[in-house]
Amino acid sequence: MTQSLSLAVFAAAALFATKGLASNFTVSNGQIFTPGFVIVDSPQPDTPLGGDNVEIALDVSANGKLPLPPYGDDASSQIYNINIFLYSYVTGRNLTITNGTASANNATLGDIMLSEPGSTVKHVRWTWPDCMVGDGTNGNDRGSYNISIHQRFRLNGENHYTIFDLPVSVTNSISKSDDRPSCQSLDNPLLAPEDIDWTDTNELGALFAPGDSTVIETSNVGSGAGLASCKHALNLLCVVGISCALLLS
Ligand SMILES: *[C@@H]1O[C@H](CO)[C@@H](O)[C@H](O)[C@H]1NC(C)=O
Ligand SMILES: *[C@@H]1O[C@H](CO)[C@@H](O)[C@H](O)[C@H]1NC(C)=O
Ligand SMILES: *[C@@H]1O[C@H](CO)[C@@H](O)[C@H](O)[C@H]1NC(C)=O
Ligand SMILES: *[C@@H]1O[C@H](CO)[C@@H](O)[C@H](O)[C@H]1NC(C)=O
Ligand SMILES: *[C@@H]1O[C@H](CO)[C@@H](O)[C@H](O)[C@H]1NC(C)=O
Repeated sequence: MTQSLSLAVFAAAALFATKGLASNFTVSNGQIFTPGFVIVDSPQPDTPLGGDNVEIALDVSANGKLPLPPYGDDASSQIYNINIFLYSYVTGRNLTITNGTASANNATLGDIMLSEPGSTVKHVRWTWPDCMVGDGTNGNDRGSYNISIHQRFRLNGENHYTIFDLPVSVTNSISKSDDRPSCQSLDNPLLAPEDIDWTDTNELGALFAPGDSTVIETSNVGSGAGLASCKHALNLLCVVGISCALLLS
């Protein structure tokens, strides 16, 4: 299993490396592939954003390859959580869009995996906070940002934590309103690039793009329930699983 996975990962890295660089994306049919199960349907990189709120459409199933929650505790592939921040080294802001905990008026959003049950695409709608009000680049903290998608997940028995930064610009008009949360209440410390651990992100590279042969195991680890997915390099693991099952019976 480890061998097939690392081969697949190697192939993916060779074909589609993104390496966390803003200018290098794996895009196919308008979908942006990330180092994880998330596929960004919108917005596209470098889109100018504004209006009342921002809407981010994310496929959280690798285009239907990963089932939706609830997952078994020991499911060998599953999403633990998806946190999203909006940050900028230009303005110094690092705002929480979602960290799993909804705050008053949904200023920060709750667990997106639980939103829109039954849908593999989650539409993350977040009200622009007060420091984004303005037009063009006129206004407090407007300009270039990253929508930063942090995925904590398990893929074929291995845990991962990856970061995917999608560059956007907050330059379309955002109107003043008393309903806007304060940026201060959403702000987090902004880490320097060298203080962020990109190892896992860079090793994985973009996953599940066309041509990527990564096979997702969804069975429980070592439960033997995944015999149907027993093929190719997984044979050995399954044989071991069967022998154990025979010994135990
Ligand atoms: C984009 O990724 C490819 C493949 O790894 C690499 O050769 C290229 O240098 C990258 N381009 C930029 C601008 O980082
Ligand atoms: C967006 O993220 C990339 C790294 O992923 C970083 O190099 C770039 O400076 C960030 N952009 C802004 C506006 O902070
Ligand atoms: C946040 O939005 C969700 C979905 O629209 C809604 O069910 C929930 O009541 C809202 N929570 C708060 C604290 O406003
Ligand atoms: C979520 O983000 C908000 C705003 O940044 C913060 O106040 C809260 O403590 C965070 N919660 C968790 C569980 O990290
Ligand atoms: C933004 O804040 C979150 C939550 O504290 C943190 O995990 C993330 O690394 C921060 N991003 C940057 C670029 O500092």
